[in-house]
Amino acid sequence: MYNDNPTLKDLNAKTIDESAQGQVFGTEFTPKQPGEKRYYIESYGCQMNFSDSEIVASILGEAGYGPTREMETADLILINTCSIREKAEDTVRKRLRVFDKVKQRHPGTMVGVLGCMAERLKAKFLDEEKLVDIVVGPDAYRDLPGLVAGAEEGEKGVNVFLSREETYADISPVRLQSNGVTAFISIMRGCDNMCSFCVVPYTRGRERSRSAFSIIAEATDLFDKGFREVTLLGQNVDSYKWENPESGAVVNFAELLTMTAGVDPKLRIRFSTSHPKDITDDVLYAMRDNENVCKYIHLPVQSGNTRILDLMNRTYTREWYKEKVDRIYEIMPDCAISSDIITGFCTETEEDHAETLSMVNYARYSMSYMFFYSERPGTPAARKLEDDVPLEVKKRRLTEIIELQTDISRELNAGEVGKTFKVLIEGDSKKSDQDWKGRTTQNRMVVFPKREGEKPGDYVTVKIIDSTSATLFGER
Ligand code: SAH
Ligand code: SF4
Ligand code: F3S
Repeated sequence: MYNDNPTLKDLNAKTIDESAQGQVFGTEFTPKQPGEKRYYIESYGCQMNFSDSEIVASILGEAGYGPTREMETADLILINTCSIREKAEDTVRKRLRVFDKVKQRHPGTMVGVLGCMAERLKAKFLDEEKLVDIVVGPDAYRDLPGLVAGAEEGEKGVNVFLSREETYADISPVRLQSNGVTAFISIMRGCDNMCSFCVVPYTRGRERSRSAFSIIAEATDLFDKGFREVTLLGQNVDSYKWENPESGAVVNFAELLTMTAGVDPKLRIRFSTSHPKDITDDVLYAMRDNENVCKYIHLPVQSGNTRILDLMNRTYTREWYKEKVDRIYEIMPDCAISSDIITGFCTETEEDHAETLSMVNYARYSMSYMFFYSERPGTPAARKLEDDVPLEVKKRRLTEIIELQTDISRELNAGEVGKTFKVLIEGDSKKSDQDWKGRTTQNRMVVFPKREGEKPGDYVTVKIIDSTSATLFGER
C-alpha cells in the first residue's frame, strides 16, 4: 500500500488512492481514566511501516500508554512516515499542520515523527517543524518511551541510529486494525539493493533477517488466535537468510516458506516483495508443492526497457525478466503476478515507454502499483542522472500504463467467470452486510452472498458469475 498520489484516480482500487488520511489505530470513544496516558498514531507508506506501527503500539503499551482514535484526547500524537516519493512527504507535512492546531488547543501534547522521513531528515525536522518533539528512525523504536519521557521534561529527542541487528524479533505486535483473519509478519528489515531511484536503503539501513523460530512462533500464535492468512514481509523477501546460532544451519526463503506452510494446512501464506533477480526455482517449487502457499507473486518490473533497467540498477534485463515470468507460469500455470512500474525515469524515451507497455501485455499482470518518477535527494539517480522527463510526459505515460493495466485486469477477471474458487472470508463486503468479501489464492477479491453459520476466517467454495477490473462476484 503506497498512499501518496491523490492526483490520479486509481483504476485498480489499490495503486494511489488512499491519500488524505493514513491508517489510524486505536479504540473508539472509551473515556480516559485519570492519570491514563493515550497515544494516537497515523501510518503512511508501505506495509512495513504499518507493521512497524504495530510494534510501536506494543512498545508503548508496555510503557503504560493506551491507544486512542481521537487526537484531541491524546497525550502523544505519532505519525509513521514515508519518503518514497515527494508526494508522500508533502502529505506528512500537511498532517503536521493539523497536529499543530491540536497542540495549540492542548498545550503539552507531544508530537513525534517516526519512520522513513524521520530517518531521512533526522534532527533537521526539529528546526524545520517547530512543533515536533521527538524524531525516531525505524530501528530506534525501543527508545521511544525514553524519548517521550525526555520530551515531557522539555528535552526534544532524536534517535535515528540504524542498526545492523535490530529485527524486533521478541516484540509481539499489537494487532489493533485487524480483521482477525489476515496479518503481516515482518521477516526482515532494510535493503541491500541499490536501485538508483530508491530512498529505502538510506531510510531503513542494511538488510537483516529475523530468526526463523520467532517467525514460526508468531505465525503459530496468530493461527491459534483464529487468523487464517499471514503475509511474510520484507523489501526483498527472496534474499531472506538466517543462520541458526546454535546449529549453524542456514534457512533460506524457500525453506522458510515450507516451514511456515507447515504451521497448519488451514493457514494461508503470502509474501511480498520479490525482487526478480532473487526469486529462485526452489521458491517456485515450495509454492507449487504447498497448497496453502498462495499462487500469487508480486514481482516489480519497474521498466520494460533494458537500458532504463540498467540506469535503475535493477540488475536484470527485459529478456531475463520475461524468462522469469515464463518460468513462473510454467511451474504454476494458475499463478497470478503483479508489478510495480515507474514511468518517466531519467532519459526515458517514447520507445522505452512502449517497451514497458508491451511488458504489461506480456506478463499479464493481475494488477500493478503504478507511479511517475519522483526524484529523491541523495539517491544515486539524483546524484548522477538528470530528471529530464517533463512532468506532463511522466503523467501521460502513467495514464497510458494505468489504462492498459486496467484493461488487462478486466480481461483476466472476465476469464475467471464460470470457474470455482476456494475463498477465505475476510469480512463484510464494502457495499452490503448481506455479502462477504474474501480472496482467491491468486489474491483476487471476491464478493458473494452470505450463508447461515459462516464467519470470517472460514474457507468457502464460490462460483464466479460476474467481474469488473477490480472485483469478482460469486454465487454459491
Ligand atoms: N522493495 C520493493 C519496493 C519498495 S518501494 C521492490 O524492490 O520492489 C515500492 C515501489 O515504489 C517501488 O517498487 C517503485 O516502483 C516505487 N518507487 C520507489 N522509488 C520511487 C521514486 N523515486 N519515484 C517513483 N516511484 C518510486
Ligand atoms: Fe528500493 Fe530496490 Fe530495495 Fe526495493 S529492492 S526497497 S526498490 S532499493
Ligand atoms: Fe515508504 Fe519507507 Fe516503506 S520510504 S515505502 S515507508 S520503507
